[in-house]
Amino acid sequence: MDALFVNADCVQGALEHLADASVDLIVTDPPYGIQGDRLHRHYNRDERFVIDGYVEVEQHAYAAFSRAWIAQAERVLRPGGQLYVISGYTNLYDILDALRGTKLREINHVIWKYNFGVYTSRKYVSSHYHILYYAKPGGRRTFNLQARFPLDESNPEGGSANYRDREDVWIINREYKPRRTKNKNELPKALLQKILAYSSNEGDLVCDFFLGGGSTAAVAIGMNRRFAGFEISARTFAIRVPHLRKIVPGSLLETPPHPHVVRNRGKLWTPAESERLHMRFRDMHAAGATRSSIIAQLSSEFARGRWAIRKRLQQLG
Ligand SMILES: C[S@@+](CC[C@H](N)C(=O)[O-])C[C@H]1O[C@@H](n2cnc3c(N)ncnc32)[C@H](O)[C@@H]1O
Repeated sequence: MDALFVNADCVQGALEHLADASVDLIVTDPPYGIQGDRLHRHYNRDERFVIDGYVEVEQHAYAAFSRAWIAQAERVLRPGGQLYVISGYTNLYDILDALRGTKLREINHVIWKYNFGVYTSRKYVSSHYHILYYAKPGGRRTFNLQARFPLDESNPEGGSANYRDREDVWIINREYKPRRTKNKNELPKALLQKILAYSSNEGDLVCDFFLGGGSTAAVAIGMNRRFAGFEISARTFAIRVPHLRKIVPGSLLETPPHPHVVRNRGKLWTPAESERLHMRFRDMHAAGATRSSIIAQLSSEFARGRWAIRKRLQQLG
């Protein structure tokens, strides 16, 4: 599976390396534009383990900066392609304004609530980020409804697990990494796995315009997606990219990817193939295999993504 890492400004990098309409999904958290690099004040942690190459954007330049990279994001997304921007509150206005200047369509505004909020004593503690979920009109948007929970699974506290998982307030803790090198603002793996599971498939091209520590890259490669990412800081790039290159594609998936898993992606199902699929499903089901293991097996046998198999089986009843 391919991965492209470019040590450059993302606008320049996208212009040079990404064709129009070539990317399925962008997940990114731009620098926050917090004046004078005060990020260290925001978290109670040992700064010796934080990579110091982080490049900030001056607040007065933030609006133009947001318009420039978001215009590139719009250009490189395929019709139906999706963009998730993770942002604090400080410069949210500029990002929303830049998004509204494009043809991208808002799908959701998710609130991500995390632990280790910014400590305050004379006001409420800030402990959420915004996730702006947009899509490019004109094509089919990937949204794998049952990627994490089947519709009929109950939540331990009652109600549907699928419904709960798709509510637009997510409570996901930041990862605590004592004495390990990290980038400022690394995103938790669980957050990225959730986004990628719902909004992409194996083999899709996922992109992060602001690599930082590379958490999006690590999860995308681990979930067997292709990846492209940009990081302007030479220091951050030099420290993080060698680790990212060692990640085994598919290592985060429950079952290892089959090399031919998506050979037939997008091809119409013939009646004979559909009949064979149905028969194989019935046989394996009768033999006592679980639904998810059957789907993984059929995905490899029919060289189609798991989502395609699941959908076809639903259609066949
Ligand atoms: C909020 S951090 C990204 C954190 C990342 N998601 C992670 O999990 O580590 C933003 C990153 O963007 C980088 N950056 C700033 N300006 C940039 C630009 N114009 N192009 C590419 N990267 C840039 C910063 O150096 C920083 O590493």
